[in-house]
Amino acid sequence: MKSILFVCLGNICRSPLAEAIAKKIASKNGVSLHIDSAGTSDWHEGESPCENSIKVAKNHDIDITNQKSRLVKLDDNISFDYVVAMDENNYQNLKQLGFTNLYKMGDFGGFNGSCVPDPYHYKEFEGFEKVYAMLELCIDDFLKTKGLLK
Ligand code: 4NP
Repeated sequence: MKSILFVCLGNICRSPLAEAIAKKIASKNGVSLHIDSAGTSDWHEGESPCENSIKVAKNHDIDITNQKSRLVKLDDNISFDYVVAMDENNYQNLKQLGFTNLYKMGDFGGFNGSCVPDPYHYKEFEGFEKVYAMLELCIDDFLKTKGLLK
């Protein structure tokens, strides 16, 4: 089974949503994939996703309340076929750690390499809907480009 790891900084806002969206698309298409997410920092290790990510997921009929933040580990480079970073900082950090099967989310879905905006400091919920919509387009394109959808 092919596997994908989504990585952001805290693993509480963006990558938990990416994980959930990818699982939803895979399940809708009847495709078996191992999908997980992690953070380049351990600042929120063991925590649930942030409130606004839980809320935006719920608006799209996805429950992410059981996800727990974890730090990315070197083994992930071996365990996962694809590692997808949310922004340039995540990408460069992973590259320095020696990650090889590394991609940037914004290189898919027609975003010309843009970073998935870090919504952590947004007070407004609206930013999270924007992140959700961007992730949906990027992940759909990623899965198709990699031949992971039937
Ligand atoms: P994430 O968002 O990387 O999408 O999970 C953040 C979460 C926490 C922090 C920054 C970004 N933080 O500074 O603690």
